[in-house]
Amino acid sequence: MVKIAPSILSADFANLGSEIEEIKNAGADYVHFDVMDGAFVPNISIGIPVLKSVRKSTDMFIDVHLMIEKPVRYVKQFCSAGADLVNFHVEADSEENIKEAISIAKSMGKKTGVTLKPGTPAEAVMPFLPLVDLVLIMTVEPGFGGQSFMHDQLPKMEAVRKMIDEVNPACELEVDGGVDANTAPLCKKSGADVLVAGSAVFGKADRAAAIKAIKEA
Ligand code: DX5
Ligand code: ZN
Repeated sequence: MVKIAPSILSADFANLGSEIEEIKNAGADYVHFDVMDGAFVPNISIGIPVLKSVRKSTDMFIDVHLMIEKPVRYVKQFCSAGADLVNFHVEADSEENIKEAISIAKSMGKKTGVTLKPGTPAEAVMPFLPLVDLVLIMTVEPGFGGQSFMHDQLPKMEAVRKMIDEVNPACELEVDGGVDANTAPLCKKSGADVLVAGSAVFGKADRAAAIKAIKEA
């Protein structure tokens, strides 16, 4: 069964604790935590202090998506603040520095992932694939919730699925952006294990029904 990671970017930040409790009870698998710095992407969201508070309020698995330049500068802080898994964009720094960020997170007992923007080819994961627990493929340009799913990313998903099966079969394939009950079946067919959904979960009054609809689509 595919896992669902609701993105709290679309949650009510004034009631974040109860929003997360609600998706936990509704059958969500991970909490997806989007960090934006206004430089790597044209938007600013939440960061380390919010992660600390969320960590105190829930025992759910927190999947942190760092949309920040040179994430190696902050990886320790995000790990100490309570991330369970930290995702690094391969475009955010040199290969050497992304590998350094992965190794710091691992040394702190955390899981790691690498993320690809829509314009980045599948092959870009290869240097990192043996090292990580997850590959995240963006199906929108990162920066905003509520955008339309980019169907042209499906062949890349299939290509990355193949690489994972050959190189690191324990690695999970996660998809983020425009995922709802209509696009979820395409992602599953292309090999996704984890689906991030922001507006398709938090935008709906009945979160349990929304999660069920995506899981069973
Ligand atoms: C976009 C974020 C996503 C976003 C997804 O930059 O990384 O996680 O919240 O939102 P939806 O599901 O609404 O496209
Ligand atoms: Zn995200």
